[in-house]
Amino acid sequence: MKRYSPMVAIDVATKEEAATLFDQLTVEPRPILKIGMELYYHFGQEVVKEAQQRGFKIFLDLKLHDIPNTVKRAMYVLGQLGVDFTTIHAAGGSEMVAAGVQGLKEGAAAAGLPEPKLLAITQLTSIDETILHNEQHVDLSLVESVQNYARLAEQAGADGVVCSAQEVRAIRQVTSPDFLCVTPGIRPQNFAKGDQKRVVTPAQAHQLGSNAIVVGRPITQSGHPVEAYQAIEQEFLKAGNK
Ligand code: C5P
Repeated sequence: MKRYSPMVAIDVATKEEAATLFDQLTVEPRPILKIGMELYYHFGQEVVKEAQQRGFKIFLDLKLHDIPNTVKRAMYVLGQLGVDFTTIHAAGGSEMVAAGVQGLKEGAAAAGLPEPKLLAITQLTSIDETILHNEQHVDLSLVESVQNYARLAEQAGADGVVCSAQEVRAIRQVTSPDFLCVTPGIRPQNFAKGDQKRVVTPAQAHQLGSNAIVVGRPITQSGHPVEAYQAIEQEFLKAGNK
């Protein structure tokens, strides 16, 4: 199974904080950096390019969700950035996801770059069964809804999903073996959970079949980001060899 280096969530609001983390995380193997809406809306493509110049692969997590034509055109732009992963909401429907795939493909081809992998968001982890039933009026259980969106995303051409490690087995029941499951909600043992409710350790994520883990605060707020990253990287990638 394909396993990637941990993806470090750079959830900061200033260029200085981002640059400090880029400096601290310049190690081999390089982490993949997850740049989300906050940093991207502040600094746009500049921050992506700065990280790429330092040799980082980028997971640009912008979670697109709009009508298919708009998503296709926006993905065309993202396809030209040379990022390695980006995201879309499966809830936008199969036509929208397929349009996103097409936009990424065309944008990357126009720039002569490899196509970024497209990961779909199924149900946000902030959605629980109550919201699902009372606000979305979905009759499925949460896990069935996640399976439904994962299947839809794969059929529309997405490369994988962002999901809880605890959902990976259910998703694997309805998707092909090379469909990627990228999992946040990771906490090394003895690290405070913060606002994450259901967490697993890097080793558990490995055992549950995650292709990649997304880790933010346990690395970025640890005081020793490199040591924290390397310990997590070893635990995730090597857990199967123990
Ligand atoms: O600091 P922490 O490790 O909790 O950060 C996890 C990262 O993964 C954050 O950027 C968060 O927005 C993201 N994420 C998540 N749960 C999801 C999807 C994304 O924690 N279901």
